[in-house]
Amino acid sequence: MRIYRAKDYKDLSRKAANIISAQVIMKPNCVLGLATGTSPIGTYQQLIDWYKKGDLDFREVHTVNLDEYVGLPGSNEHSYRYFMNENLFNHVNIDIANTNVPNGLAVDMQAECRRYNELIHSLGGIDLQLLGIGRNGHIGFNEPEEAFEKGTHIVDLTESTIEANARLFDNEAEVPRHAITMGIRSIMQAKRVLLIASGLAKADAIAKSLFGPVTPKVQASILQIHNNLTVVADEEALSKCNLPEEGCIVC
Ligand code: F6R
Repeated sequence: MRIYRAKDYKDLSRKAANIISAQVIMKPNCVLGLATGTSPIGTYQQLIDWYKKGDLDFREVHTVNLDEYVGLPGSNEHSYRYFMNENLFNHVNIDIANTNVPNGLAVDMQAECRRYNELIHSLGGIDLQLLGIGRNGHIGFNEPEEAFEKGTHIVDLTESTIEANARLFDNEAEVPRHAITMGIRSIMQAKRVLLIASGLAKADAIAKSLFGPVTPKVQASILQIHNNLTVVADEEALSKCNLPEEGCIVC
């Protein structure tokens, strides 16, 4: 794994956007796996900025998002489809038909899980998967469990995730209790993984995930065995890892 230490969120966002743009420039018809949440907002803003300056072209890019709340339509401002449209897709020249988010309103959720797995497969897999990390080490909505779930599946959100996500809703009661998420196999099969983390609240999760035992109790710990993992994290998020002060760390 390669760890880039960023000075702050702005620096982190620029570094992460640089890695994503390199992917789009090297392979204009690439498949990007994307995340929602607070962590990637700055990265998406930077990509939009470079697109507007004429440095990036998303015409041939396909995207697959990690997850979606069960029960929310894409028109709901709390849905992840809405988030992606607002924070990236509506501002670049991507073909919206080439953007994919699991359907949280599917009547048959098991069929939707199968459809999403097949979709990723039919696109030829993910070239670059962007990930944020939960305070409990979750990636996508793969919460601490007894085992790693392989394919797309439905999850019950944990209390800590509901509490963390409540800041984006009017109150905690409004946070959906279930989500549909890409599984660990799909994430691990991505050709390259880019994990971003900012702030002290992520320091424990980052230390355990990158340097603790590989365990489904900390789902992101599986990333240690991915053969092309890049981590971009700020000083605070790296503060509980015992790392050299400068530069890119390869371990
Ligand atoms: C979002 C997702 C989640 C978030 C994680 C961190 O699509 O899959 O795993 O990446 O909850 O969220 P933030 O960035 O809001 O701290």
